[in-house]
Amino acid sequence: MYCTRKHLLFDKSYLITFNQDSMNIGESTQLTKYSIPLKLETQIDWKVSQEDFQLEAFSINWRNEHRYFYADHNVLLRVKNNICGKVVFKNIDIFYKTIGKIESRGQSLISKIQGLDDDKVYACKELNKHKPYSKKLFENEVEILKQISHQNIINLIEAFENENSYLIVLEYLRGGSLSQCLKYCKLQIDQIEIIIKQILEAISHLHEKGFIHRDIKPDNILFCELGQFSNLKLIDFGISCKIINQDNDSNMNFGTPGYMAPEIINRSNQYRISQKIDIFSCGAIIYYLLTGSKLISGLNSQELYQNNKVFSLNNQILQRIQDPNYRVLVSKMLIDDPEQRIDAKQALNYIQLMNIPVNISLSTSLHCSQDPIQKLPDFKQLIRKL
Ligand SMILES: Nc1ncnc2c1ncn2[C@@H]1O[C@H](COP(=O)(O)OP(=O)(O)O)[C@@H](O)[C@H]1O
Ligand SMILES: [Mg+2]
Repeated sequence: MYCTRKHLLFDKSYLITFNQDSMNIGESTQLTKYSIPLKLETQIDWKVSQEDFQLEAFSINWRNEHRYFYADHNVLLRVKNNICGKVVFKNIDIFYKTIGKIESRGQSLISKIQGLDDDKVYACKELNKHKPYSKKLFENEVEILKQISHQNIINLIEAFENENSYLIVLEYLRGGSLSQCLKYCKLQIDQIEIIIKQILEAISHLHEKGFIHRDIKPDNILFCELGQFSNLKLIDFGISCKIINQDNDSNMNFGTPGYMAPEIINRSNQYRISQKIDIFSCGAIIYYLLTGSKLISGLNSQELYQNNKVFSLNNQILQRIQDPNYRVLVSKMLIDDPEQRIDAKQALNYIQLMNIPVNISLSTSLHCSQDPIQKLPDFKQLIRKL
């Protein structure tokens, strides 16, 4: 791929090549003039024609100066695809317009945005640079998502940075969250089974790749389409980490009361923090799915935190799960000692052994016609607002 540097007297053509860690621009593969590190500290700006949205050039900051590299739209598109998620881009407004707000939280603002060239809708997670840990939350989410591709894990599109915020562009999931679904729907057992299986598939893949999510909860599980339970994705990787790096950021709060494993909420206990914290959280979700009641609740946030801190599984709690097979599964996922707690693969194998017909009656049309969610206008209205 070639690009051009425009000079006063003459233009100069350069070859663009890539290796694992850098984009190299030079007269040949041997003669690299600009070596641009493919990491999130690198900022790339784009020039786009306002008439037809064709890419015209990209620029880098080189010795405190903007250096522009011109090329054909298709060449630049290939460059962009090669580096997106590995570096940050500037000027999100060149590529997207905001079309609505989805959610605003303490740390982040989630908006609905639309691509100016393809008209497709995406979600944008904006982290205010002035809030604590925003850089870390941004880097975690982007670094992890760029390494992961799985049907039950959100897809990262690209990352931007402007003066006041970091912005993460993600595929847009229009089906609402599992927490909304649990609040408003009475799910049938085959729907519950397929939901459980997909959550475990996502966690299993994440753990296999060497990551811990650290905030598994119904709010962080979204359905791709309204009423289609066979297509969900795990989101929110801001506080996720590599299994081996987890002790570096012990000051950061992670987890959400109601879903926190004993070893994470009682840090002083003897248990080591590992990927098993995700299994405990997942066990709490499965309990909620099967019984319609939260495993751990409280009248206010302090009470909820306290109840989570002193939580201990007993027979009375377990008996609310009617299916004896599931009772065993959940009890194995909620064991205090993480060494004894089963892992995601074992949980999936266990479900297989239970001989649950997870693969039948999952056709979308079948679900839509029988779906109880379809009969709940409140939930539908709520989702429409997103
Ligand atoms: N890709 C997406 N598509 C649709 N809605 C989303 C998407 N990502 C996040 N949301 C909505 O925004 C909420 C917060 O997003 P999340 O990534 O969990 O941020 P936070 O770190 O603030 O919890 C989610 O619970 C969901 O309702
Ligand atoms: Mg979240």
